[in-house]
Amino acid sequence: MTPTRTDGKAGFDHIYDEPDPRDYFRTLRPTEYQIPAQAQPVFRRTVDACDAGSVLDVCCSYGINSALLRCDVTLDDLYDHYADDDVAELSPDRLVAADRAWFAERTRPEAPRTLGLDVASNAVAYGRAVGLLDGGWAEDLESGDPSADLSDQIADVDLVTITGGIGYVSERTFDRLFDQMPPEQPPWVAAFCLRTYPYDGVAESLAQRGLVTEQSSATVPQRRFVSVDEQNAAVEAVRERGLDSAGREDTGWYHCDFFLSRPEQQAGTPPVDDLLTG
Ligand SMILES: C[S@@+](CC[C@H](N)C(=O)[O-])C[C@H]1O[C@@H](n2cnc3c(N)ncnc32)[C@H](O)[C@@H]1O
Repeated sequence: MTPTRTDGKAGFDHIYDEPDPRDYFRTLRPTEYQIPAQAQPVFRRTVDACDAGSVLDVCCSYGINSALLRCDVTLDDLYDHYADDDVAELSPDRLVAADRAWFAERTRPEAPRTLGLDVASNAVAYGRAVGLLDGGWAEDLESGDPSADLSDQIADVDLVTITGGIGYVSERTFDRLFDQMPPEQPPWVAAFCLRTYPYDGVAESLAQRGLVTEQSSATVPQRRFVSVDEQNAAVEAVRERGLDSAGREDTGWYHCDFFLSRPEQQAGTPPVDDLLTG
């Protein structure tokens, strides 16, 4: 049975820090988990819009958003790959060796440098070992300052991305990251945030760094609820935030807003809705 967190959301902590992502994909596929797939074209368009050479994914897990950014693969390809019978039989070490080659064959020549931050040390180690993360750090910036290495390596990041992470991380993590980034040229931040969580705290903290946050008018689905209890908790949470659950959480799905934060002189171009819908 899937455990429940105090906010009513099903807890998947047991799949976040395995030696490889097989359980992650096996467990989430039945929920039609799809926020990395929803984000893939949006993040690619955002990379082009800000001409990013270096992207930091926060709550990067096994390097999923990095895989979708730097390789010619879809989330469905990843679901199929990790469920493949031959792949299912491999030891974690052999899988790492096989996946390194699998991702290398699919890497796009124009891919940006991809970096990742997550508390899950095994997941980050996998992402680094298979070459999805050029740099990866298992650190918790909710509770402490970044290491010297993380601080050094993120100084030239052009874009920060996040899916499935707001709620786990807050403005505390963004504050500690932005303390290490050049105030005269801060990176853009592209975030998919569940409607059950406010983004205001992060947006306010980014505003203090000179970034203007815009919200898309449309939402995208993240995954199906795993139970009626989970749905009821989510519907209550969005209503408490003054939002209408009709057509979204009411239909059985978690939905996300898309937020894009960029320096004032670049805000509005291209419009956030164009980046979301293409
Ligand atoms: C729902 S998963 C999202 C993973 C991935 N971004 C995706 O969309 O599939 C949430 C992730 O947040 C990570 N996480 C939880 N608390 C964190 C923290 N304080 N700092 C960084 N990552 C954290 C978990 O380890 C997990 O990998």
